Amino acid sequence: MKIGIIGTGYVGLTTGTCLAELGHDVTCVDNDPKKLEKLQAGKSPIFEPGLEELMAKNSQAGRLTFTADIKPVIAASEVIFICVNTPPKKDGHADLKYVEHVAREIAEGINGEYKVIVDKSTVPVKTAEKVYETIKRYSRPDAQFDVVSNPEFLKEGTAVQDTLEPDRIVIGVDSKRAEAVMLACYQPLIDKTHAPVKITSVKSAELIKHGANTFLATKISFANLIAQTCEAVGADALEVLEAIGLDERIGSQFLKPGIGFGGSCFPKDIAAYKKTLEVLDLNPDFIEAIEALNEEARNRFIHKIEKELWVLDGKRIAVLGLTFKPNTDDIRNAPALTIIKKLQLDGAKIITYDPQGMGNAQQELSDIEYATDPYDAIKSAEALVICTEWDEFKKLDLDKIKSLMATPIIFDGRNIFNPKQMAEKGIKYFGVGR
Ligand code: NAD
Ligand code: UGA
Repeated sequence: MKIGIIGTGYVGLTTGTCLAELGHDVTCVDNDPKKLEKLQAGKSPIFEPGLEELMAKNSQAGRLTFTADIKPVIAASEVIFICVNTPPKKDGHADLKYVEHVAREIAEGINGEYKVIVDKSTVPVKTAEKVYETIKRYSRPDAQFDVVSNPEFLKEGTAVQDTLEPDRIVIGVDSKRAEAVMLACYQPLIDKTHAPVKITSVKSAELIKHGANTFLATKISFANLIAQTCEAVGADALEVLEAIGLDERIGSQFLKPGIGFGGSCFPKDIAAYKKTLEVLDLNPDFIEAIEALNEEARNRFIHKIEKELWVLDGKRIAVLGLTFKPNTDDIRNAPALTIIKKLQLDGAKIITYDPQGMGNAQQELSDIEYATDPYDAIKSAEALVICTEWDEFKKLDLDKIKSLMATPIIFDGRNIFNPKQMAEKGIKYFGVGR
């Protein structure tokens, strides 16, 4: 099938590349000239394991191309995926101006052929209705199209794998014609993986996405609440949560306590869902509790550092990890940024290292030293703060850390080390909930 992808970021690029890998003829559109230049040169603008190799394979096979010119893509494509960003507005509402803009461009590009317009961006319930109205308003009177909701569940760092081996495919559709087109689009993936397909109404699909992200964020905030309780009574949160997660009804994933969830999705999506509840005159307290616990996780960690180091002014602190999670270069809403900025306010001198995030961090952070590797960062530091659980950090030589640091104190925001081992080595250690 001929497929157009509008917005070639984390979701658009991964979706477009994977659909090409499944045999479709895919053209990805983006209006950011810098991004496009990289894409057209065969480079991925983002760090995502396996993605660049798959791009190369499918570009060479002639199934994957990149352009800034949306109009011919709309005219040629049977299915058009909207994958643009939906950032939060100041008040928490999702900002849908990019979605609206693309809807208008689609309207202008629609010819006499039937098109399925797929909303893959994460949006509040009833957005598809607005997209439909917009396209209807600005397109030719005989335009034939349907608007479908096909939420994306990929995680950064495992985006390719999540897309090629999905837990489920959700297709929210209110027309049989569009359903048939969407099933044809996903058929190669369904044949390959036997992933369950949920055909729902458009509104249900939109709510599935906000519901899923809210539930995952809830699990993390719950884990952080347990961690607080453990710290108060001297229990071990990892033991407690591991045993809780062994109940199959609960499950062990997304129960890791730490410095809270970050990224471009959970914080904005639960804020947008809270707004939906408010608009519907429903009680948003539940979401507010998740948000409060998340903020508290970060603040309590900062407080631990401030309490132990007493005066931070002039102290050299090494921070390992800048990205909001490992295996990505994404620093959007990364807890590390909040933590670093607060320690800088206290007067600390920060030296940092991240395997992939330092390039992006340069636009966000100032007065900071970037190290060439973790040991370079740790050298002469009076404290080590771990903000992201990169595998590289888990393998660090503890004896070397101890000998390099001015004072061996570790604040481990991701519980990558074992407190007992730290005590044996003579390193003062603070985990989360342990
Ligand atoms: P992104 O910022 O990485 O990518 C969006 C892209 O759209 C950018 O490259 C931007 O230049 C482009 N764009 C914006 N307006 C455009 C226009 N008019 N024409 C052409 N291109 C345009 O965002 P993302 O992380 O890929 O997220 C996209 C959507 O998917 C969001 O709604 C997000 O919530 C959702 N989502 C993201 C993830 C994730 O892990 N990143 C996972 C699931 C869902
Ligand atoms: C999340 C969801 O997991 C995806 O399913 C969804 O598609 C995506 O949001 C989205 O809608 O955009 P992502 O933000 O890439 O994916 O990353 P996650 O792995 O979910 O991690 C999010 C944050 O939660 C990270 O900061 C991570 O450190 C934190 N986290 C995760 C915890 O603190 N504890 C955990 O147990 C798990």
